[in-house]
Amino acid sequence: MSQVDQYAVFGSPIKHSKSPRIHKLFAEQTQQAMQYSAELVLAEQFSGAVNAFFAQGGRGLNCTVPLKELAWEYADLRTERAELAKAVNTLAFQGDGHILGDNTDGIGLVADIQNNHAISLQQKRILILGAGGASRGIILPIMGEVPVSITVVNRTVAKAVTLANEFKHKGAITGCGYADLAGQSFDLILNATSASLSDELPPLAAGLLAEQGSCYDLAYANKATAFVHWGHEQQAIKSLDGLGMLVEQAAEAFYVWRGVRPYTAAVIQMLEAERNLS
Ligand code: ATR
Repeated sequence: MSQVDQYAVFGSPIKHSKSPRIHKLFAEQTQQAMQYSAELVLAEQFSGAVNAFFAQGGRGLNCTVPLKELAWEYADLRTERAELAKAVNTLAFQGDGHILGDNTDGIGLVADIQNNHAISLQQKRILILGAGGASRGIILPIMGEVPVSITVVNRTVAKAVTLANEFKHKGAITGCGYADLAGQSFDLILNATSASLSDELPPLAAGLLAEQGSCYDLAYANKATAFVHWGHEQQAIKSLDGLGMLVEQAAEAFYVWRGVRPYTAAVIQMLEAERNLS
């Protein structure tokens, strides 16, 4: 392998990944000598591909759908946020030969919401839609910001209850079904379901969003998602999608690998501008 430090994102599909672009911009900005590529890797190829990458001197990987759980298993050291997320999006080669697994999705979400959009999570009532891997990945970093409560709601109620139970030793969290939300309202509603990918909307009643509340969809698309529309209809102060989170989780991975924190604002602006043109 060449002398320039090698990084990559593995996943399937991977063609439309914005990660190579984002990391190239970060590397230029921070003057880091590194290369970052996108590789199509299927689940059954995962361990072989990762072994080969690190054997050839690769320094770090991002893992995306459907590889985050496999990356969690692969890592022989894990951060606490990755441990509880049961998913890893960042693998980092350590000097002693260990492979560290981290999950930067949740911290990326928190950074986008608080730093880029000036929405504080402190003392807020937060509703998380969905109880799959995306929800699991964000709970611990959100708890770190000391909201007043976290409610996880899911179509399959048992999954929400189980997920909440896994985190309840860390902070105030409950799991329930959509019908159980009647009469409640929340300051921030986060959509962590996969519904946006098929332009669907979870079964949300009107009145769930408190006055002055905001909505955030972890997904992003070239046009507003059904959930972002819903947020506007509910008079959300802000109704946002996950483009900023994408850049922020990448910045955190970059920091894990290089020990340097890139500025994200210009990169987010560039991706937003391109999206508006498309
Ligand atoms: P991910 O890793 O992206 O979280 P996942 O683990 O398959 O994907 O979880 C998808 C989540 O989106 C689940 O909570 C799912 O609800 P169920 O567990 O009840 O299936 C939720 N979901 C998907 N489509 C949805 C829809 N149209 N309305 C509400 N919830 C939806």
